[in-house]
Amino acid sequence: MSVWDTYQKTILFAAAAHRGQCLPASDITYVVHLSNVAMEVIMAHKSGCDPDENFDLELAVSGALLHDTLEDTSVSFEELEKFAGARAAAMVAALSKDKTAAKEKKLQDSIERIKKCGIREAAVVKLADRITNLQKPPASWSAEKMKKYREAASEILENLGYANKFLAARLAGKIDEYRRYFE
Ligand code: NI
Repeated sequence: MSVWDTYQKTILFAAAAHRGQCLPASDITYVVHLSNVAMEVIMAHKSGCDPDENFDLELAVSGALLHDTLEDTSVSFEELEKFAGARAAAMVAALSKDKTAAKEKKLQDSIERIKKCGIREAAVVKLADRITNLQKPPASWSAEKMKKYREAASEILENLGYANKFLAARLAGKIDEYRRYFE
């Protein structure tokens, strides 16, 4: 299947799975987030600044659009595997937080699992996800919360930046800009 067809088929699946969910503190559909993450992945690939013959854009786009299905919807791993294939499902599983992990260890655990899954596209999606999430935070967020969120982004960059130079540079820029929201 082409990347175009995969995108269209997958965003429909994701939109149905996330039906009724909105962006934080907003009434805008959550699908906007998923689409933005996919856009970051596509633009990074298009930049050609990180040539990797083995990079699977179709897999990365699938992962971007599906990255929250296991964490935030009733879609099961088996359903995901049936829909998107074994690699995409494994990727989404690696990108899903372990809800049983201790709160302060969740990020480290998540980073470790992304590294361990052996699918570089998973790290690419994580970078794209955090770039997308470093837009203006909801008004209800405290400066402390923003600061922590920014620190977590730095940790992601440090650990997963290897996966894509373009996105690593873009994330570094977003982390830098984010300071203006709480300083
Ligand atoms: Ni996300």
